[in-house]
Amino acid sequence: MRSLIGILDLSTEEIDGLIRVAEDIIANPDAYREKCKGKKLATLFFEPSTRTRLSFEAAMYELGGNVLGFSEATSSSVAKGESVADTIRTVNCYADIIAMRHPKEGAPLVASAKSQVPVINAGDGGHNHPTQTLTDLLTIHREKGRLCDLTVGFCGDLKFGRTVHSLIEALSRYTGIRIVLISPDELRLPEYMQNKLDSLDNVTFTETKDLEAAIPDLDILYMTRVQKERFFNEADYIRLKDSYILTPEKLTGAKADLSILHPLPRVNEISVAVDDDPRACYFRQALNGKFIRMALMLMLLDIQ
Ligand code: NCD
Repeated sequence: MRSLIGILDLSTEEIDGLIRVAEDIIANPDAYREKCKGKKLATLFFEPSTRTRLSFEAAMYELGGNVLGFSEATSSSVAKGESVADTIRTVNCYADIIAMRHPKEGAPLVASAKSQVPVINAGDGGHNHPTQTLTDLLTIHREKGRLCDLTVGFCGDLKFGRTVHSLIEALSRYTGIRIVLISPDELRLPEYMQNKLDSLDNVTFTETKDLEAAIPDLDILYMTRVQKERFFNEADYIRLKDSYILTPEKLTGAKADLSILHPLPRVNEISVAVDDDPRACYFRQALNGKFIRMALMLMLLDIQ
C-alpha cells in the first residue's frame, strides 16, 4: 500500500508513467469509465479548496467510483477535538483511498502512518502539494512536449507557496532546467529550498525582483497568489499582495511560445485581459488536474 505525501515519493519513471496514462485517458476516456467501480474516495479537506477537491471528486466519478467526505473541519468531528489519527482510523472503515488537505505541515504524513489505505496529500500548510505538481507537469508536457531544457520563472509568494516548493523539487530532477525566482525580499524561496537547489548540479537558479526584465528569457511563467492565510499580520499582506500583476503590456517582450501557468485561485496577480492570450494555460491546467488525479488513483489502488 502506497501513499503520496511529497512529489519525491514518485520516481521520474513513475511520473512519466502517470503522464502517459493521463494522456491516454484524455484520448480514450471510455476505456476508463468503470475502472474504479465499487471504490470509494474520501476527501478530507480541513482547508478551503475548489479545484483540488472537485477535480479529485470528478476524477473518481469518471472512473466509475464514489466519493464521500467533508469540505471544512467545522463539519467533521475535528470540531469536537478529534485527532487526525482517530479521524483516519475511522475513515479507513468507509473508504478505499483518501485525499487530505490540512493547514498543518506534516499532517498527511501522520495520517498515512496510521492508515491502511492510500493517503494523498492534497496540500499541507506552506509545505507541499504533490498533486498540483503532477497537474503542472502534465500541463508543461502537453504544452511543450517535454519536461527538460526549460527556463521556468516562479513569480509571487515563493515563501509560503506550497505549489512552488513541490514543482521546484520535481523539476530539479530533469536535465537542462533553469529556474528564475521572482519575488519581493519578504517572499523569497525558503532557505531550506535554496540550499537544496544549491546542492544540485543539473539545475541553475537566479533571483530577481523584476518580473518584466525576467519575462523574455522564460519558456514557462508560473504565477502565484500571495498566501494571505499564512501571514502573521494583515499589514504585511496588504503591503505585499499586489507586488506583481501580469498584464498584456508586460508580455510584450515574451516568447511567442511562453506558457503562463497558475495553480489558481487568482486574486489580482494576473489581469483578466491576459486570459484571452493563447499563452495563458491556467484553465487548461485546471482541467489537466482531473486527468492526472485519475491516473494517480489508478496507480495507488493498483488498478491496471
Ligand atoms: C493552491 C494551493 O491550495 O496551494 N491551489 C490549488 O490547489 N490549486 C494555490 C493557492 O491556494 O494559492
